[in-house]
Amino acid sequence: MRVLHVCAELFPLLKTGGLADVTGALPLALAQQGCDVRVLLPGFPAILNGLDIQGEVATLNSMAGPIKLLFGHTSTGIAAYVIDSPHCFDRPGSPYLDVGQQPYSDNHLRFALLGWVAAQLASGADPFWQAELVHAHDWHAGLVPAYLVAAGRPAKSVFTVHNLAYQGLFPLAAFASLALPPEYFSVEGLEFHGKISFMKAGLYFCDQISTVSPRYAQEITHDEQGCGLDGLLRTRSADLSGILNGVDEQVWHPHTDPLIAAHYSVDKTQGKAKCKQDVQLRMGLAQVTDQPLFAVVSRLTEQKGLHLVLAALDEITSRGGQFVLLGGGDTQLEDAFKAAAAANPEQIAVQIGYDEACSHRLMAAADVLLVPSRFEPCGLTQLYALKYGALPLVRRVGGLADTVVDCSLENLADESATGFVFDDFSVAGLSQGLRRAFILWQRTKDWKTVRRTAMQVDYGWAAAARQYADLYQKMLLTK
Ligand code: ADP
Ligand code: GLC
Repeated sequence: MRVLHVCAELFPLLKTGGLADVTGALPLALAQQGCDVRVLLPGFPAILNGLDIQGEVATLNSMAGPIKLLFGHTSTGIAAYVIDSPHCFDRPGSPYLDVGQQPYSDNHLRFALLGWVAAQLASGADPFWQAELVHAHDWHAGLVPAYLVAAGRPAKSVFTVHNLAYQGLFPLAAFASLALPPEYFSVEGLEFHGKISFMKAGLYFCDQISTVSPRYAQEITHDEQGCGLDGLLRTRSADLSGILNGVDEQVWHPHTDPLIAAHYSVDKTQGKAKCKQDVQLRMGLAQVTDQPLFAVVSRLTEQKGLHLVLAALDEITSRGGQFVLLGGGDTQLEDAFKAAAAANPEQIAVQIGYDEACSHRLMAAADVLLVPSRFEPCGLTQLYALKYGALPLVRRVGGLADTVVDCSLENLADESATGFVFDDFSVAGLSQGLRRAFILWQRTKDWKTVRRTAMQVDYGWAAAARQYADLYQKMLLTK
């Protein structure tokens, strides 16, 4: 099976969130299942510089001007096509926003290129490798299925929703530049309240829709989490499935992680105490061993519910616990967390910004990882936390609900518990979860049992890769 994955970011080349972790790991896990996988990426400088480029595949005249299609490999061994178009991708700022934090005015063209080139690759642009199935990720690659249909369906398509809240909406005026059939701008197409929606294009034109947890697959068919697309998702429910993300154990494993102070494992956990000490020292917290350390590693956005954590900090500190946060985004939240740390530096530490090494150190140091999201398509940090023996304290929503087993009395009794799950998206809901964490902490033996179960849960990528490979196989068998 020749499968082309299309995405805007990929770890370790370029990462702004969990999407990159997925696209960096899934192709390798699919190769283990016998799939012949390649990826298609935009030529951002970090991607071009990080790839071992082997040569030029084609020069193409696209609707965004002439582009070169290059081919190479990542250091992890993923075969990658990359769109070399400096006028589109070589810019200061982030991949999506300019230096003033505004979306680039031509984002519609920059990301339409991903879809247009994918259709070319399915139609023979590389005479040595032609995709039979194209797997597009999130709105950036949302036009992939539309360009494939416009090209006469040279390949089947899967569209994976990593986050329905980011939709790639553009004004109607942008449509003419996309070189798509005019009739595609319609309710039966990519029109969404008078605008162009890349997300809707993906959902409407693809052969199969997947999302990153079974529960989120259900949630997005309802009004509350459907972001205005629940109606379309309901009509496509026969083609919609949820496949849980995994953990790349080459990158995230406390036994081998080169970024943490000491290694540890289920049977030898002493190293975890050293990791906690290391973080306390680095971040200026008091050196205490008998109190739990709570951590957050997150984008600071509305989705993640961190205003609840801010309001519940007293619940942690008044009981003697410590709190550490690594994150960036909303400047009001950044400032509020910084102020909380300045007022109580022995118990609260905050690092603003993106820092891969620090994210690993916090997972290894923490006793509890907080993820109180309003919604969460899958969530990867709670999976990393399980592996590192930091018990996740999560809201019962999306992938969080699918992956964390609450410390209820029954689950403690049968040793299936792995963390703390609360229901109500409120300070009271989170506070109740925090109180339960402190109660378990007092029962050292139970805490160790739960931690042991958490560290042993298998969320490797093999299970997900098997499900995607089965889906591809079924699709290629049907005409
Ligand atoms: P999302 O993709 O919605 O941000 P996920 O939990 O799926 O949420 O993935 C987040 C990824 O980004 C994880 O790999 C996490 O470790 C990482 N991450 C988030 N914030 C930071 C940060 N400030 N520094 C380093 N890594 C971060
Ligand atoms: C999105 C979601 C997150 C998910 C990630 C990878 O960023 O917000 O829940 O884990 O994609 O699929």
